[in-house]
Amino acid sequence: MSTLIIGAGGQIGRLLTRDLCQAGDEVRAMVRTPNPELQTLGAEVCISDLEQDFSHLFNGCQKVVFSAGSGAKTGADKTILVDLWGAIKAIDYAAQAGVKHFVMISSRGAENPDKGPAAIKHYAVCKKLADDHLIRSQLPFTILRPGRLLNEPARGTISTTLPTDPEQQVITRADVAAVAAFCLQNTSAQNAIYPLVNGEQTLSDAFLSEPDN
Ligand SMILES: NC(=O)c1ccc[n+]([C@@H]2O[C@H](COP(=O)([O-])OP(=O)(O)OC[C@H]3O[C@@H](n4cnc5c(N)ncnc54)[C@H](OP(=O)(O)O)[C@@H]3O)[C@@H](O)[C@H]2O)c1
Repeated sequence: MSTLIIGAGGQIGRLLTRDLCQAGDEVRAMVRTPNPELQTLGAEVCISDLEQDFSHLFNGCQKVVFSAGSGAKTGADKTILVDLWGAIKAIDYAAQAGVKHFVMISSRGAENPDKGPAAIKHYAVCKKLADDHLIRSQLPFTILRPGRLLNEPARGTISTTLPTDPEQQVITRADVAAVAAFCLQNTSAQNAIYPLVNGEQTLSDAFLSEPDN
């Protein structure tokens, strides 16, 4: 089964590509610029841009992970074009291609953009609208809503309950990548939305399933 990773050159995307390739999975890595590191890992590296037509990348892919993001350094225009419109196009292309599982790296705050900080409300709105489009798409989906991302080694355990203190709503990128890889292997993690922070649950306990494909 081949998995398309959108945003494979990003920080979570690289970790996920590594994890899947090391597990022997076929990975198609969508990047904007050549990436020898991903090629060395064994991924099929494809150069495309979310602002263009990238529908061809879905041919032959059964699973998709959307881990792209315009980032904090660009303006709200790119948040709309990449995080919202790019995600919506990816969902539509996936549905047209008959993809079997779409994993969305969303964000805390997407559940209710009115409740979060005003400075990133437009981002939370874009993430929510993309998530809502995925839910309506009829694609089997898993939506992961991590807290603030940390560049630390994976802990191997997580929590799917957001602490009330926003300062404690953090998770390592390596753990998010591990959760995405785990969810791809478990149909019981489908059609569900999971907040994600560092915590004490094993992935099996958190997602209540036996690997089934
Ligand atoms: N930062 C946080 O605390 C936080 C919290 C919760 C959720 N998230 C979400 O987590 C996800 C991944 O985070 P991350 O830290 O791995 O992000 P990242 O390192 O910034 O990676 C994002 C990737 O998206 C790609 N991208 C941007 N615009 C694109 C376009 N037009 N076409 C194709 N690819 C494009 C970038 O490509 P280039 O390499 O070419 O730039 C980059 O590789 C994002 O969806 C983000 O919104 C972030």
